[in-house]
Amino acid sequence: MPKPYYITTAIDYTNAAPHIGHAYEKVLADVMTRFQRLNGREVYFLTGVDQHGQKVQKSAEKAGLSPQEFVTGITKKFIALWDKINVRYNGWAATTDDKHKSVVQALLQELLDRGQLYKKSYRGFYSVRQEQFLTDKERGADGNYGEEWGEVVEIEEENWYFKLSEHIGWLRSFIQSHPDFITPAFRANDALNALEGGQDLCISRPKERLSWGIPLPFDKRFVNYVWFDALVNYVSFAGYLAEEVGNENLPDFAKLWPADAHVIGKDILVPAHAIYWPIMLHALGFTDDQMPKLIVHGWWNVKGSKMSKSTGNSIDPVALADMFTPDGLRYYLMRDIATGYDADFSEERITMSFNKELAGGLGNLLQRALSMAQKYRGGVIQASAYDDEINAVFRQTVTDAPAKYVERMNAWAIHDGIAEAWRIVTHANGFVDATLPFKLAKDEASAARLDSVLYHLAEALAHVSVLLSPVIPDAARQMRDQLGWRMPDGFMVSDLRWGLLKDGHHLGQPVPLFPRLEAAKETK
Ligand code: ME8
Ligand code: MG
Repeated sequence: MPKPYYITTAIDYTNAAPHIGHAYEKVLADVMTRFQRLNGREVYFLTGVDQHGQKVQKSAEKAGLSPQEFVTGITKKFIALWDKINVRYNGWAATTDDKHKSVVQALLQELLDRGQLYKKSYRGFYSVRQEQFLTDKERGADGNYGEEWGEVVEIEEENWYFKLSEHIGWLRSFIQSHPDFITPAFRANDALNALEGGQDLCISRPKERLSWGIPLPFDKRFVNYVWFDALVNYVSFAGYLAEEVGNENLPDFAKLWPADAHVIGKDILVPAHAIYWPIMLHALGFTDDQMPKLIVHGWWNVKGSKMSKSTGNSIDPVALADMFTPDGLRYYLMRDIATGYDADFSEERITMSFNKELAGGLGNLLQRALSMAQKYRGGVIQASAYDDEINAVFRQTVTDAPAKYVERMNAWAIHDGIAEAWRIVTHANGFVDATLPFKLAKDEASAARLDSVLYHLAEALAHVSVLLSPVIPDAARQMRDQLGWRMPDGFMVSDLRWGLLKDGHHLGQPVPLFPRLEAAKETK
């Protein structure tokens, strides 16, 4: 038995409501989770929310709420969204959870005991507005700090530091000798470049500056830097140190770790996930074999630029799921981007993918196949004695699909996996055009051939319902319901064989899978 496949996403900041970028990442991880299960793996999927830090403290102040009240409200929005769009996780990582806090503190204590932390005084330029120290990188061409930083004052402050620089040599050779640490591979260069001139990491914030965080166990005048706290979620909710700190109801860490995939956006690869995180683990004594793998996805932009609250171009996934159904949103988010690269969100393209592909391609095919079988055969299909080259070529497309599909899905190329399944849909529509079942129905001598055509269509649709089930789980289940075929428990892609539907199988009545959208029709 291989270890369970352990997949995580980034934990989302709870300073504002979820947007389409958040939805994309969670759907990507959910699709991979469902696919791996279909591929025979046991999977543990962890996602959650990042609830501490300056951003949250500020947003709470603005809203006139306590940070805890504020994050509780935003967290509810994330949970409701995952519920709505069928993102189904095994573990929920909320960083204000006591189970997490106790592990962060134990881990900080362990690093202190290992001589990895020290306190020092730092004098530097501090932006009052942004509440952060500035470095030379933030200076403009004229050598001054720009207006965006507001008032900049020179202050001296004591803080706790982590000896990151001690491990840079190890990390460089680890990255170079482990090409599968970062996917896609071209992103490893970003990490290697960032290692130049690596400095120790400040892991504390004085309580006067930031009160909303986890106190350092050995110096209560400070709280932990939010990134340090957040990264720990991947182990704290996987059962790390559970016995030592008395945590219950968590997975068995020894079985689950290392993570097979931390699914993250490109903006948080460097320095957090590619530098801080492996070095934190290494400093705690994790071996090279115990390092997690990173899957780095690109960004959804809007008209070529970054989504942002200030420009008001943030896209609301709840409204999209209402308009296009949860599956319509999931399908678009998976088909219109290549994992690792950026994409542009387009209302026109989501409408097109719904109306032309889901409704016009898949839904219409199911509708036609079932209504013809009902009309000509009362819904009962026969494998039939008739066969010919047209049938054989179509069968070949259906039986060839799974191997290519599995290869592409395993490589995180979900859009290609969808395309492999979609070859069947396209071929099936062409198969109807080539065989003209409504003509065959008028000719008594073609009865056996008509049986074979109706059978091939229904059988092909059963295969499609399996292959697309990770991406559009609701529609795939409805397809099977209408086909009158139940996927046996524990069914895997590798169980797909021609002949899922038996001779004399009863098909159900057609019900539109994706009713066309009136409003969407008008937007072309
Ligand atoms: O970074 N397109 O949280 P976050 C695609 N709390 N992905 C996007 C995106 C977009 N337009 N915008 C954001 C944080 N993301 C930290 C993570 S992990 C220990 C802590 C992705 O809410 C982003 O890349 O800003 C990240 O992976 C995730 O959404 C959460 O972003
Ligand atoms: Mg962010």
